[in-house]
Amino acid sequence: MMNFEWNLPTKLNYGVGNLEKVGELTKNTGKKAFVVSYAEPGKGVWVVEQALKSLEKAGVAYYLYDAIEPNPRVTTIDAGVKKFIEEECDFLIGVGGGSVIDAGKYIAATAFSGGSCWDYVILKERKEKVYTGAYPIIAVPTVAASGSEANAGGVITNWETNEKSFCRSEYRIPRMAIIDPKVFASLPRHITIDSSVDIFSHLIEHYLSSASESEIADRMTEGMILTVMEMLDKVLVNPEDLDARGQLSLCSIFGWSGLQAIGRTGSIPIHFIEHQLSGHFDISHGKGIALVIPPYLEYFAEARPDRWAKLARRVFGVVEPDDNKAAKLLAPKVIEWFKRVDSYHTLTSVGIGGEHNEMLADDIIRMYGTLEGNKVPGSRPMSKEDIMNVLNAAV
Ligand SMILES: [Fe+2]
Repeated sequence: MMNFEWNLPTKLNYGVGNLEKVGELTKNTGKKAFVVSYAEPGKGVWVVEQALKSLEKAGVAYYLYDAIEPNPRVTTIDAGVKKFIEEECDFLIGVGGGSVIDAGKYIAATAFSGGSCWDYVILKERKEKVYTGAYPIIAVPTVAASGSEANAGGVITNWETNEKSFCRSEYRIPRMAIIDPKVFASLPRHITIDSSVDIFSHLIEHYLSSASESEIADRMTEGMILTVMEMLDKVLVNPEDLDARGQLSLCSIFGWSGLQAIGRTGSIPIHFIEHQLSGHFDISHGKGIALVIPPYLEYFAEARPDRWAKLARRVFGVVEPDDNKAAKLLAPKVIEWFKRVDSYHTLTSVGIGGEHNEMLADDIIRMYGTLEGNKVPGSRPMSKEDIMNVLNAAV
């Protein structure tokens, strides 16, 4: 087991009907809230309207910045930083999915620390800036997927350079997450499915890539994956099953909070590959992840047969005693599940041709190739050729 530091300072406030309490729950946080939400008309508008109504009822002053797009852009976030300062806000409320909450976290920290949000993300060739603090952040998640409502992460896209990158900062961990399962019950079916696959991807990243062992982390991960599979089945039958929605939201939070990897942190190779896909082609993160997972699991099964076999046996019912053989059964089992819940995608099925694969692999190596030989961290270090092989198999 590795040494670690872990802290989850986010207060989780869970309840059916919590959306109506946003004003009451946040009124003592500051003088004026900067409310961040989606740009697209119709996207979760009733949730935003209800949150604003609740703020008004509690007498909370606010400025609404309804400008965030999926795969949030550096230009939009920097414009938000400018507005936050102009409007003299002193705390931030993000009402939306991972894109909105991530963007809000960058706005609150960049407005406090100065510069552009892009100065702070990880890019191999330069030393990134470090945040010195952030205005208090409150998250009201409308999608259970990214876990951004209770972690230090955040992914943003630079459309001038077609790069998507991230950083972590403890200052950006939301002070409170206000969770209302009724909000999730209104999500379209395909978003619920993509989100559940994203939660699954978070749970398997460190499980399959860490060099250390931590049985408690393994057991928590396995339990959360089984919960995701079981609860997704329930909400696909009954989208209004609020208990199942609530359980999915907890998997989203704890599945990407560091708790799932406690004592055996690894790396996030599936996300490294996917980020450049959605950074170039603006597909949803959940779909991108769903199309990278099967070829990744197939291609790298020999890298860590012990880990692949453990997951295959404990979660997917594989009984094969030989690790090498059991490892190879994981990808087919996951594909079987993806097909059953309508989340099996390929590059072709989302309208992207394989002709871009070399450019994507070059970008992934350029941005994340931190290891000797310009390799990217993963279950074993990934070369450009490895990444090309995964992407070619995804076509
Ligand atoms: Fe993700």
